[in-house]
Amino acid sequence: MNLKFTEEQEMMRKMVRDFANNEIAPFIENMERGEFPREILRKMGELGLMGIPVPEKYGGSAMDFTSYIIAINELSKVSATVGVILSVHTSVCTNPIVYFGTEEQKNKYVPKLASGEYLGAFCLTEPSSGSDAASLKSRAVKKGDHYVINGSKVFITNGGEADVYIVFAKTNPELGSKGISAFIVEKNTPGFIVGKDEKKMGLHGSRTVQLTFEDMHVPAENLLGAEGEGFKIAMANLDVGRIGIATQALGIAEAALSAATTYAMDRQQFGKPIARQQGIGFKLADMATSVEAARLLVYRAAYLRTHGLKCTMEASMAKLFSTKTAVEVTTEAIQVFGGYGYTEDYPVERYFRDAKITEIYEGTSEIQRIVISKHL
Ligand code: CAA
Repeated sequence: MNLKFTEEQEMMRKMVRDFANNEIAPFIENMERGEFPREILRKMGELGLMGIPVPEKYGGSAMDFTSYIIAINELSKVSATVGVILSVHTSVCTNPIVYFGTEEQKNKYVPKLASGEYLGAFCLTEPSSGSDAASLKSRAVKKGDHYVINGSKVFITNGGEADVYIVFAKTNPELGSKGISAFIVEKNTPGFIVGKDEKKMGLHGSRTVQLTFEDMHVPAENLLGAEGEGFKIAMANLDVGRIGIATQALGIAEAALSAATTYAMDRQQFGKPIARQQGIGFKLADMATSVEAARLLVYRAAYLRTHGLKCTMEASMAKLFSTKTAVEVTTEAIQVFGGYGYTEDYPVERYFRDAKITEIYEGTSEIQRIVISKHL
């Protein structure tokens, strides 16, 4: 693995870092109050950030996968909310269409997703099927030139805001995971009902909703891949998505480490900066070491993906370790700040609240261990 980023990748890092500091940072308070960052996403579309790894032919920026991971990382250092919105939009909505769609589907949806005109979402999880994704109950029945879909989905990131949804439903319930199919569903489809908005511990600017499908008529040409291929499409794209969440978690941990280090250099107790007290200095050293290890796992998985190599296990390792690091480092960052860390005057309490979900969504840490152990 080449540990040196290319000039193009460094340019992406600088561009996104500047954008995050100038355009996103001033909007954080609004997002903390629950405002969805529509205008920020519009500007990201103008900069080509809504379709970073998408081929030019379909209106994308045609940059490599590592550049995309760098972008989510830089966004997440400032706002994990914007990081997850972009990750879900690209990894598990746009990518499945790029990789599994027909030419007509690609021409119809991808340019609009890549430009940011459309926002994307991914609908796998249901009230009674989370980790055991193959046990989902939504049902799709073919009637003439349509599929009629009934069912409900929960914890849908970008739900309600998104224009296009990749929906998983059973076309043949007797075949288990091989009876699941994927569909491209537009928000304005009759029978598509947006339900409860979840009130979450963190990621306050990101919308997470329940969805219900009531006799939702989806044109047969919106079947993505072949009937029965849905589970594989979900899993293959989660490989990519998990690297996105791993880099989001890395961004949160890096931000917490940076804030804690700056504070510890400044804060004086017992006649010297607390960074020079061994208890705090060693804590920062451990935090920095974990962050560095997470970074290596994230960019190793990204490198494999960039070079078209299989990365299922490495993506799970990166997600498992990086998200654990984010939770630990943000917890320790609050400890470094002491009482101030527990207040909203400093960002570390937000990092702590935003970090926890990274160990849960796109496959819990326990699921990542299942994937890793199956590969050993
Ligand atoms: N790529 C391609 N195919 C894959 C695959 C992958 N990574 N992983 C599995 N498959 C295939 C298998 O090869 C198998 O096919 P064959 O029988 O033809 O070989 C088929 O899929 C079934 O595989 P398993 O028997 O391993 O499936 P399983 O039922 O035991 O489940 C699991 C495996 C890894 C536990 C899976 O259920 C899983 O990942 N669960 C977690 C679900 C998840 O991550 N949900 C996230 C929701 S999205 C989200 O969170 C987005 C957001 O809001 C941020």
